[in-house]
Amino acid sequence: MKQIEEHTDATKIDVKPKGPLVVHGKLSITDKDGSIILKDRRTSFCRCGASLNQPFCDGAHKTTEFEDN
Ligand code: FES
Repeated sequence: MKQIEEHTDATKIDVKPKGPLVVHGKLSITDKDGSIILKDRRTSFCRCGASLNQPFCDGAHKTTEFEDN
């Protein structure tokens, strides 16, 4: 674990408790329609399924019963 943290160029991903998967860094995301979305810094992906802006988190997890397993 410590070795990974020492690589400053490694992609950092945080799994937020009862919340989104947060990816830090530049991303190119191809959505279900084939459109490409570019992100520059930090991107939160929905894990709960309630977001109306999939695949991104829109904060809807706060109003659901979503639990980590
Ligand atoms: S994790 Fe935030 S809306 Fe699903």
